[in-house]
Amino acid sequence: MAHSADHPRTTRVYHWINLVSMAVLILTGFYIHRPFAPGYMFEARLLHFIFMYVLFFNLLGRIIYAFLGRYADAGQFSFGIKDIKALWEVVKYYAFIGPHPQKSGKYNALQKLSYLGIVVIILFQAVTGFALYRPELFSSVVTTLGGLHALRMTHYLVMWIIIAFTIIHVYMASTETPEQVKLMLFGIEEGKEHAGQEKVAGISSGHR
Ligand code: HEM
Repeated sequence: MAHSADHPRTTRVYHWINLVSMAVLILTGFYIHRPFAPGYMFEARLLHFIFMYVLFFNLLGRIIYAFLGRYADAGQFSFGIKDIKALWEVVKYYAFIGPHPQKSGKYNALQKLSYLGIVVIILFQAVTGFALYRPELFSSVVTTLGGLHALRMTHYLVMWIIIAFTIIHVYMASTETPEQVKLMLFGIEEGKEHAGQEKVAGISSGHR
């Protein structure tokens, strides 16, 4: 069951900004990838440049919030030794060869790993992106990745990794926990009738 404490308003806003900026970056990225595409190259590049800052600062803000925010949740993402074993159980479940694993914490081991992984991937995308933007300032990145052409291709390939993550993320969230999707996107809380009981049990369910 979902209640608003799972996704406070602040984290929902971060998630929306991520979603919109990611969509704009992917669409404009596809366009920029075709250098001789007719029409709107100026606008596509401008949008890409605006939203690369939006995505980047939103990610930094979310990381800071995870540690220092009112509902700091960095602990929910921490991946420890016990998650390694749990990870195998989750993988077996998704491969249809194991039972549904016991719920432990807010996110399962695979979620923790993939949410941490996507942060690293987006930061990497930001580094390669900023190196494309200002190659003279990031010359060591350009050389390490094998020159400007290889850098472009790396940035392009990483886009596909992010697209694959997004498709799997949307599929898993909407099949496993559709109620959390409603909550994360629209703040719609299901099972309100249980909220009173949770309050009695000492768990806050107030709208955040
Ligand atoms: C902070 C993050 C990002 C920065 C700083 C950034 C920056 C850039 C820059 C400067 C370019 C070259 C534009 C030009 O030459 O006119 C570019 C191209 C591109 N970007 Fe990004 N970008 C970022 C995030 C993303 C994301 C999240 C995606 C998609 C998931 C993406 C996909 C692309 C693609 C496909 C291209 C075209 C690459 C090519 O030339 O083949 N970018 N980006």
